[in-house]
Amino acid sequence: MTVHSLTPDILSALEGAVGRNGLTAEPAGMAKYLGDWAGDYHGGALAVLRPGSVADVEASMRLCSELGLGVIPQGGNTGLVSGAIDTNGTGMVVVSLERLNAIRRIDPVNFVLQADAGCVLQAIKDASEARGCLFPLALGAQGSCQIGGNAATNAGGVNVLRYGMARDLILGLEVVLSDGELWNGFSGLRKNNSGYDLKQLFIGSEGTLGIITGVEVKLFPKPAQVETAYLGLASFEAAIALFNRARRDCSDLISAFEIIGAECIELARLIEPGMTAPVAAPVQVLIELSSGPAIDLNGMLAGFLADAMEEGLVTNAVLATSSAQAKTFWAIREGLVEGQAKRGYHVRTDLSVRISDIPALIERARRLVATEHRGWISLAYGHAGDGNIHFNVLPPLDLGATEARARGAEVTAGLYDIAVDLGGSISAEHGIGRSRRHEFWDALSPTHRRMITALKTALDPKGRMNPGCLLPSTETFP
Ligand code: FAD
Ligand code: LAC
Ligand code: ZN
Repeated sequence: MTVHSLTPDILSALEGAVGRNGLTAEPAGMAKYLGDWAGDYHGGALAVLRPGSVADVEASMRLCSELGLGVIPQGGNTGLVSGAIDTNGTGMVVVSLERLNAIRRIDPVNFVLQADAGCVLQAIKDASEARGCLFPLALGAQGSCQIGGNAATNAGGVNVLRYGMARDLILGLEVVLSDGELWNGFSGLRKNNSGYDLKQLFIGSEGTLGIITGVEVKLFPKPAQVETAYLGLASFEAAIALFNRARRDCSDLISAFEIIGAECIELARLIEPGMTAPVAAPVQVLIELSSGPAIDLNGMLAGFLADAMEEGLVTNAVLATSSAQAKTFWAIREGLVEGQAKRGYHVRTDLSVRISDIPALIERARRLVATEHRGWISLAYGHAGDGNIHFNVLPPLDLGATEARARGAEVTAGLYDIAVDLGGSISAEHGIGRSRRHEFWDALSPTHRRMITALKTALDPKGRMNPGCLLPSTETFP
């Protein structure tokens, strides 16, 4: 049965679980939880619960289980695939973790930090830095996304090539299950080879198995030196050859290797009209090395770049002489993402292929757009060091919104076909959510589906956790 509204009795029971400050059922109060960052998705909910403690989450989940209510866990609501927004408005409650936002402890001796799931990623990075440590998860949304959301989506970002994705950075989780039972999966141990690693099930589960309430992460020594350069290259082939050389010649000290097609710079200018790229070249690379103090990192990068220019791999290079200048390089990378959102609806992808297949992916994708979608603008950028390209496509400005979305679906399908044909993935780091669930599910083998269904049924037997996200949904709750 789908619930369309909550009776006063149910509302007061929910208020009993989370307190007066923790319940919002008015449309105006709920609005910011029901739309995404870019304005692409809008949804509905019966109420928004904002528990202030783990005990509140347990009480909320027990109550929702008794009432048969569907639940959407929500972090910073920066996800790009409509995982935290019920676009069908089928009558669920959103559980926002935003009030559960304390850093519980930092242990610089063991390089471990434990935080509430609603702690904003930037706060975790700042607190780690204040203790001489680095928490290396880094993404454009770090000022708003939450560590619980990062765990639930297995977030990636710009430092994955050196430190791994969220999955590699998480030591333990605390989770409230769909019936309200609490699982404490913290051990603080680096090695713990005792049976199934249950935390890994919840990492990347996108709110479909339980609500993550606490996260324990690995810290690293804060690098004593960071060197950043902005490079111009003639082609994506040269960029991939350069990456391979850089790994060998720079002792694998690369912490970021981002590629940016020159056409993306126009987008960054929408955010900062005066912005110009430090180099003019068809393909641009933002490379960062980081290390401890006992290395001439600047000399290493400068020497590597001199060799690469002599060989003709790099046509121009600007090495940042201060951290302020390095920030201006990163502002270009971040500005182009915001610029796309500012321009309005566009096709947004998150493709991954083998690193050596990046030039073929971009070449085929550009050809598809140029031949079959005249007037649409191709943008290629992303985390080349991970084989992860965001190949995005902007509709012509004079195309109406409805037609743009309909054509956009065709463009997306064509791009997915190319990635799959190259043996790649249609979701490198953003997840499946609601926007990619059909493509995801359709591509699975029967055995894969059976195992996923068995896991889902074991942990969420009534299918109340984020129905419609990641997996096919019945759209109704028992
Ligand atoms: P939300 O958007 O609130 O939720 C995302 C999913 O996780 C939903 O399915 C939700 O139900 C579930 N969820 C959230 N919290 C919990 C919880 N506590 N327990 C259980 N389930 C939960 N992503 C990358 O990987 N790499 C990038 O480089 C990157 N850059 C971005 C740049 C910008 C400008 C923006 C807007 C987004 C970017 N993202 C990127 C996407 C997004 O920031 C990440 O997916 C992030 O991890 C989502 O965290 P969140 O707290 O906002 O989660
Ligand atoms: C980025 C996001 C969109 O890399 O994943 O900018
Ligand atoms: Zn990305």
